[in-house]
Amino acid sequence: MGVMRQAWFDEARFGMFVHFGIYSVAARHEWVQSYERLTEADYRPYFENFDPDRFDAAALARRAKETGMGYVVLTTKHHDGFCLWDSALTDFTSVTACGRDLVREYVDALRAEGLKVGLYHSLIDWHHPDFTVDWNHPRRDDADARALNEGRDMARYREYLHGQVQELLTQYGQIDYLFFDFTYPEERDGWAGKGPDAWDAEALLALCRELQPEMLVNDRLGIPADFVTPEQYQPTSPLMKDGKPEIWEACQTLNGSWGYHRDNMDQKSPTLLVQMLADSVSMDGNMLLNVGPDGRGALAPRDERTLDEIGGWMRLHRDAIIGAGHAAFPPPREGVYTRRGDRLYLHLFSWPLGFLHLPGLAGRVRFARLLNDGSWLRTSVTDPDQQASHMTPAGEVEGTLTVHLPVRRPDVLVPVIELTLTGE
Ligand code: GLC
Repeated sequence: MGVMRQAWFDEARFGMFVHFGIYSVAARHEWVQSYERLTEADYRPYFENFDPDRFDAAALARRAKETGMGYVVLTTKHHDGFCLWDSALTDFTSVTACGRDLVREYVDALRAEGLKVGLYHSLIDWHHPDFTVDWNHPRRDDADARALNEGRDMARYREYLHGQVQELLTQYGQIDYLFFDFTYPEERDGWAGKGPDAWDAEALLALCRELQPEMLVNDRLGIPADFVTPEQYQPTSPLMKDGKPEIWEACQTLNGSWGYHRDNMDQKSPTLLVQMLADSVSMDGNMLLNVGPDGRGALAPRDERTLDEIGGWMRLHRDAIIGAGHAAFPPPREGVYTRRGDRLYLHLFSWPLGFLHLPGLAGRVRFARLLNDGSWLRTSVTDPDQQASHMTPAGEVEGTLTVHLPVRRPDVLVPVIELTLTGE
């Protein structure tokens, strides 16, 4: 990856994913058409009644900025084939459905807030007549499913796919990030999958490089590009490949569903989400946190409340996340480190009684404070030979720095201790 392409991405660390489309009207997960084997006729009412009167791109951009996010990624087309921009290649678009080019509204709003512009684009298209039925397709269990493929020509679909990517990368200004989704080469249930060749991935990536040379492209074309995209799980160490660090971004949901799922109550707590963010940054990764606007295009109140709490935490702790990354010190059991320049940040996932013991930091720290209120914290170096008394800690390994803590945990989602490192 070119260093220039990557700089803003490493700096931002935290982005917003937005899954919005006619599946949001169905309100039962973005895969509802496949999960419920819905026919085009079953699915059509969601298109015909798509009225995103409360989709407010400017508010969404402000919300992302207030939550501490540096970039946003909007679904331009998901697997159902519905397009949120004014595509000349199909009438299955938001312009046809409601007269609005939502991608245009979105890119304008992001730029007005100084946010980087990301687009998500599905390689899959269950609406396109030439996209062959496979083990993900809504028609896969139909009696005539195999016969359906006889007239289908993936070459024509590839032309459509590349043509639509060309529209998005030439008609909406500078695009900073493109999230393709997704390649599934493995066979399943007697159906072939779709590997990189199904998309002509090499040519599609070359088209991206030609049209938007500075744009980041993810790994889901099925060929290497600029960054890898673990999903709905947390890596446990910085991702490496062939001995070199991988650029990675974990995409996460608020409740397990990317698209609006009205009856899904698996909402993650703001504390867990902030811990996941800190965890990602501690391993030199980004977190892309998803929101699924509802059938009218608005964020659900439960999601707004979660983002409000995260935003409040980020306003106090942004320096421990934005521009920060992995720290080469062994973290204590209570949390994870991130580092930005001469500042080491300890994100505490549990609050110990009285003392924190930090191996390897004795003589390395010239000031310690709680980041939320800037309050000084006493530190000491425990002498390994010191006889333990009943009131002072001892028995720590040589080189340990002990930080003295107040009994009461600060009232923030995740307390952070900022350690200012000495010169060396
Ligand atoms: C998976 C899901 C898709 C979602 C994507 C987000 O590929 O199938 O619905 O958009 O993850 O990364």
